[in-house]
Amino acid sequence: MSKQFKRTLITSALPYANGPVHIGHLAGVYVPADIYARYSRLKGKEVLFIGGSDEHGIPITIKARNEGVTPQDIVDRYHALIKDSFERFGISFDVYSRTTSEIHKKTASDFFKTLYEKGEFIEQTSEQYFDEEAQQFLADRYITGECPHCHNEKAYGDQCEQCGTSLSATDLINPKSTLSGSAPVMKATKHWYLPLDQHESWLRQWILEDHKEWKSNVYGQCKSWLDLGLQPRAVSRDLDWGVPVPVEGGEGKVLYVWFDAPIGYISNTKELLPNDWEKWWKDEETKLVHFIGKDNIVFHCIVFPAMLKAEGSFILPENVPANEFLNLEGDKISTSRNWAVWLHEYLDEFPGKEDVLRYTLTANAPETKDNDFTWRDFQARNNNELVAVLGNFINRALVLTQKYFNNSVPAVGELTDYDRETIAEVQKVKEAVEQNLENYHFREAQKEAMNLARIGNKYLADTEPWKTAKTDMSRTATILNLSLQMVANLAIVCEPFLPFSAKKIYSFINTDKFDWEQLGNFNLLPEGHELGKAELLFEKIEDEVIEKQVQKLLDTKKANEEKEYKAKPIKENIVFDDFTKLDIRVGTVLECEKVPKADKLLRFLLDDGIGKRTILSGIAAYYPNPEELVGKQVCFIANLEPRKLRGIMSEGMILSAENADGTLSLIQTSKEVKPGSQVN
Ligand code: MF3
Ligand code: ZN
Repeated sequence: MSKQFKRTLITSALPYANGPVHIGHLAGVYVPADIYARYSRLKGKEVLFIGGSDEHGIPITIKARNEGVTPQDIVDRYHALIKDSFERFGISFDVYSRTTSEIHKKTASDFFKTLYEKGEFIEQTSEQYFDEEAQQFLADRYITGECPHCHNEKAYGDQCEQCGTSLSATDLINPKSTLSGSAPVMKATKHWYLPLDQHESWLRQWILEDHKEWKSNVYGQCKSWLDLGLQPRAVSRDLDWGVPVPVEGGEGKVLYVWFDAPIGYISNTKELLPNDWEKWWKDEETKLVHFIGKDNIVFHCIVFPAMLKAEGSFILPENVPANEFLNLEGDKISTSRNWAVWLHEYLDEFPGKEDVLRYTLTANAPETKDNDFTWRDFQARNNNELVAVLGNFINRALVLTQKYFNNSVPAVGELTDYDRETIAEVQKVKEAVEQNLENYHFREAQKEAMNLARIGNKYLADTEPWKTAKTDMSRTATILNLSLQMVANLAIVCEPFLPFSAKKIYSFINTDKFDWEQLGNFNLLPEGHELGKAELLFEKIEDEVIEKQVQKLLDTKKANEEKEYKAKPIKENIVFDDFTKLDIRVGTVLECEKVPKADKLLRFLLDDGIGKRTILSGIAAYYPNPEELVGKQVCFIANLEPRKLRGIMSEGMILSAENADGTLSLIQTSKEVKPGSQVN
């Protein structure tokens, strides 16, 4: 039996306010955290669900510089956008604040001071690049130079984007400051370090022994960090954007973003409950759960706990159910390559379909491994599950009640064995959903919840109340009574996953919210209870809608390929004689058609000025209507040794250009010439 807690404190990673949020954020962190928060509240627990924006760090300052605005302008813009997107998706934060708030700056600053005064830091001096013109130390991202591996001259101090190697600024050849363009010099600078090595032994015990129940991806990552041996970590930076280091010698320095950000959870709690926050953070009877993505594991399982422990008065997380990543149509989501479904865009393009995305993301939650979002799957989940199963059952139960019982709950009569079996099956759903939710298996939990609608559909199909209505109205009444009780049960079980739909179901059945413990109860709607007005819960999503989204992504892909296109390096020089050996000619197309059973090949019959010649060319994919090429002129190599392809002799090679995206385009002359003309 696991420990019983008095209250649950749920945090979700504070997203960086340097761009909008996308489906990867929602799937990995905010939807699971919200399901857990809603479920815990429904269970009658005392719950606090904390969110907020992470507004410090280098990428924000870089974005500001690039746009010629202040970092504050950037975070103001994205904090508002992110907050709004979460709200519109029904993420039920009790507070959503930000790390540029005064209360946060003070909380983080005081936290640092406490650790400093307790002697929990070590101080170390190191040599860092400094820009003498700008009079500033330079973060690795602010330095460019030549990559020591691939010799790309525009590599960044932390990474070369051409060959993908991660670098440190001192690896660069001819480093330059992006602030002034000058060559940076090395200069000594002092920083404060959290000596994680000194925390290693209790961390090993606490995670590896006491929390064996953590998800295997989380446990495994922690174990490999611990097995490698922990090193002291700098918790300050030479930078002017952040929370100033509040101790002697801290002028011009700020807290490292990963030091202040998790303290944001505490600051935001304080902001909401200025007099009552401590019981949430300092009482062993609070269950603290951090929802995060896998790139945040080390900070939430090792660094932040070490900070909390060093401070001395805080509790540690009970669990950190981190998720893996969600891909989009098979490729990694990327903000800089615009490869994402942005939440604010989805909300505008799919009004009223918040739950459809929530549902799809939970169904594909990257819980144990990376998972994939595709628009086709989104459509299928909507049409085959939400519409055909959940919506259909509810609609049928309500419409039949309208038809036969004037929209009020009919009386239940004698139950058959089959009725009893159905009730028993519905009652099993509660425990199945609970078990999964308590263990952070949201995908399975949602599947179990949907099962209730499947049971309902099957029940209606098997009992056929529209048939019994012809002979036995009291049997029809019983069937519809039980069906309506199942609809009420669905409202309860859907609420954590599909809050907007749950609300609608409650309005259809015209009742206030039930609580979780009522799940499985078949007396939720009393006989004679007037139902509300039924509408369709979900609507079918048509192919055109999906095709438009797929096209949008294809356009993005194309734009990226063009942006990232680099011409291939020039081949080794040849002498003029080598060139004159090639006999390149112009020919007029007499016939052109697909080669049967070879999807890539076109067969050309050319007038080459001397006679007719056949040439096969692998461009069929780019010329879907080959007959349109008849009469056009193409260039070809006339003296290439003929060879047989698919049983046809190909006498030469037709020239085409290969575009950035790999597509091929035939070479043509700018004026019509006589067939057989030489290309020189
Ligand atoms: N901003 C970080 C990210 O997006 C997450 C910060 S979580 C917190 O990866 F704990 F630091 F708040
Ligand atoms: Zn490189």
